[in-house]
Amino acid sequence: MQRIYIKDLKEHIGKEVTIKGWVDTVRHQGKMAFFDFRDTTGKIQGVVFGKPEVLEKTKEMRDEFVVEVSGIVNERPEKSRTEAQNGSIELEVTNIEVLNKAETPVFDTKEDTRKISEEVRLKNRYLDLRSERMQKNLINRHKVIKFIRDFLDKENFIEVETPMLTKSTPEGARDYLVPSRLYPGRFFALPQSPQQYKQLLMASGVEKYFQIARCMRDEDMRGDRQPEFTQLDMEMAFVKEEDVLQLNEKLLIEIVEKLYPEKRIQQVPFPRITYKESMEKHGNDRPDIREDKEDKNLLAFCWVVDFPFFEKTANSDDPQAKGEWTFTHNPFSLAKTEDIEKLKNGEEIGSITAAQYDIALNGSEIGGGSIRAHDPEILKSILGILGHSEEKIEENFGHMLKALGSGTPPHGGIAWGLDRLLTILQGEESIREVIAFPKTREARDLLMEAPAEVSSEQLNELGITIKKDSKK
Ligand code: AMO
Repeated sequence: MQRIYIKDLKEHIGKEVTIKGWVDTVRHQGKMAFFDFRDTTGKIQGVVFGKPEVLEKTKEMRDEFVVEVSGIVNERPEKSRTEAQNGSIELEVTNIEVLNKAETPVFDTKEDTRKISEEVRLKNRYLDLRSERMQKNLINRHKVIKFIRDFLDKENFIEVETPMLTKSTPEGARDYLVPSRLYPGRFFALPQSPQQYKQLLMASGVEKYFQIARCMRDEDMRGDRQPEFTQLDMEMAFVKEEDVLQLNEKLLIEIVEKLYPEKRIQQVPFPRITYKESMEKHGNDRPDIREDKEDKNLLAFCWVVDFPFFEKTANSDDPQAKGEWTFTHNPFSLAKTEDIEKLKNGEEIGSITAAQYDIALNGSEIGGGSIRAHDPEILKSILGILGHSEEKIEENFGHMLKALGSGTPPHGGIAWGLDRLLTILQGEESIREVIAFPKTREARDLLMEAPAEVSSEQLNELGITIKKDSKK
């Protein structure tokens, strides 16, 4: 018989149907057995009564067994109806087949799994993800991403995938490196973001680019950081700062209105605050401006603008910073119009303001971007200020300078930290609640047990030897 989804059972009252799913709960009671069955669309109560041969089959059944169930959809007696999804019907089971057994789960997935130790949850992530809250997080993440794709498609953006195996670039964190077998001693780097590729796409005649992009950064873990995370990355040709802010604001507002109607945005248009003001008033550059911090449905978006372009390296965690100055965000940014001359000439460096913007939500930095230096001479000057020699500039950024000099339009963009945004939209405390298979705080994957040692054959092929004392 054709499989019916549990959410559609109401349309089959009085008929015999077949469902497939899991035993959510089972209770044996003499000549009867009571079930809750579950599939991806919901739950239904089932009862076995007056059928000794079916009852016999249910004896071995436990929670989380995977089953195919046939039964008649009956209306429940008036007094036992509830408001739940299928609270007015039940399934009178006529047959039940086990499709797969299940070991007793190591924790109860019917409860809020946040109560369970994270180590146990992450080791058994497939169980954890079965829980209702985690299913919702997965589904809503999908919905937000689909909404973004549809919105940007209508705005004439195209999604372009950029390489995962690429070259070490300065984005502010350490790179994850991948050794090359064919070129022993050489390494690919995993992208910290698609920054250079998206600018190269601007040089390629793509006027509106976006990507749901995976980024990898080997940095010290903090609460809202993951070594591998997802950005909504975008870049546009012929735009000014205002255009980027407006478009992103519109998209964020629509996501909230369409997908999270229970939430309220504190202020539209989103307020803007300068970096200086934010530091003075809030002591950080991702201010939490909520008027009521107890309200879980309040979303206080806020643009932070006018960042200083450079800071002294003493304040920097950029491992590549060797000069006196380092960039605060991104070496590829442009200065505000009034400071472009200073940037070109390398004058009054500490006072140069970047055409850069961040977006904060309830005290979390959920995105950042800038208008870029599209003139190769300006980029050269920036790299010079950062202390790179002519030779290093050519070696590390020659491709960018050439591309910019080949007829690249003025451009700018932004990247959202999608995981951070989703954490707040889903009302979660941790970024790991909205990622299907996150790493621990110690940057490990407990389910796959990664990172792991590899065989000596693999190392030999790569021409790599491991120093004995480097193993932990
Ligand atoms: P940036 O480095 O600011 O900019 O990154 C953009 C946004 O990504 C999120 N984010 C992270 N989320 C989780 N874990 C991490 N380790 C992590 N690191 C960053 C933040 C941040 O605001 N290429 C530029 C963007 C641009 O200029 O267009 C970039 O990557 O929410």
